[in-house]
Amino acid sequence: MLGEFTYCNPTKLYFGENALENLHTELEKYGKKVVLVYGGGSIKKNGIYDAVTKILEEEGKDVAEISGVMPNPTIHKLREGIEIARKHDADFILAVGGGSVFDYSKALSVSVNCEEDPWEKYFVRFEEPDCETIPVGGVLTMVGTGSEMNAGSVITYPEKKLKMGHVFADEKIMPKFAILNPRYTMTLPKYQMVAGIYDIFNHICEQYFSGEDDNSSDYIAEGLMRSVIHASRIAVRNPEDYEARSNIMWDATWALNTLISEGKSGDWMVHMIGQAAGGVTNATHGMTLAAVSLPYYRYIMPYGLPKFVRFAKAVWDVDTEGKTDTEIAKAGLAAMEAWMKELGLVMNLGGLGATEDDVEDIVNGTLILDDGYKVLTKDEVREIVKESL
Ligand code: NZQ
Ligand code: ZN
Repeated sequence: MLGEFTYCNPTKLYFGENALENLHTELEKYGKKVVLVYGGGSIKKNGIYDAVTKILEEEGKDVAEISGVMPNPTIHKLREGIEIARKHDADFILAVGGGSVFDYSKALSVSVNCEEDPWEKYFVRFEEPDCETIPVGGVLTMVGTGSEMNAGSVITYPEKKLKMGHVFADEKIMPKFAILNPRYTMTLPKYQMVAGIYDIFNHICEQYFSGEDDNSSDYIAEGLMRSVIHASRIAVRNPEDYEARSNIMWDATWALNTLISEGKSGDWMVHMIGQAAGGVTNATHGMTLAAVSLPYYRYIMPYGLPKFVRFAKAVWDVDTEGKTDTEIAKAGLAAMEAWMKELGLVMNLGGLGATEDDVEDIVNGTLILDDGYKVLTKDEVREIVKESL
């Protein structure tokens, strides 16, 4: 384990079928004026909205609502929400939904008391807030992003075809609490469930495929990956399996709550390319990652061969007998591809509506990071995008 770091994750988690009861205790800690943020209406259909608003009422809160936060939330929707939160003089933001609602709530938290334009400040210049932020807490209904226990926020500017993520450095941007009831995820359409599962898996890969030292984080990552693979196979056959769905929910949180990134530089290029594809197609986040993953990993494999060999053995139980390292690594990626197909993921960008005409926009929207096994050039990004079509 190399590196020097400070570990602090202040998000309190309440997990299980009765977790929502704890919303009472949490709400007591904050002022009367609450902004309730949610998406396009799933929480009204499955009863979560009624359960949450009942508690808000019992706690005597004065509530303003921001509804209709869309998947891949836009800067325009954020600006609209800032006005609502300012008018309401918000003391607290309650997010009820998936990663989009949580991300949006964090972006709102850092923008309400800020004079500058949030797009330029947080998603172009990646600055930290220098204004008072509003505390955020939430009830999670969709599993995948880890947004419930991290300081990330991803916002889309549709006219610019850009989707940009900012992981804030200050832990006060992380939700104060998150309520995780696996039962709430049961109404997710299968498409969203599997997209979320792949998002979890890829978050772990992004951190795993970096570094050459013997690092505790990699062993934790391997355990989490095995759990995701195991539980996902059960959940795909029977989405009502509570045990599998709860394991997936817990894995998602630990996949991206800063724990397994300690001592790691991280890669994150699947997310950079996938996010750029998302900016162009507005496709579901996890599917954009699935579409670009294999061309990317097959391309960088020779540069990080020992880790890909370890991945094949420790995560996919590849039989190494009589194989060279390259053959073992390839067999690991083949096993991953078979699992992805078993889940029913969209395996190429064409399946998400992208065409040859979108290639340059995707390449231009891709931020090239330099912490993985291979620092890509723009031309290499272009090749990977073309291969993903
Ligand atoms: O809007 P509603 O009607 O609620 O429907 C949502 C939405 O259509 C639906 N849904 C959520 N919970 C449901 C449900 N439908 C039925 N039953 C339920 N219980 O699911 C759809 C997708 O929701 P969304 O929140 O968009 O999904 P996800 O959690 O995957 O979030 C995606 C966003 O998070 C960002 C992505 O880029 C994307 O913008 N990410 C955030 C990260 C972070 N904060 O660290 C990291 C990730 O890599 C990711 O980039
Ligand atoms: Zn992701």
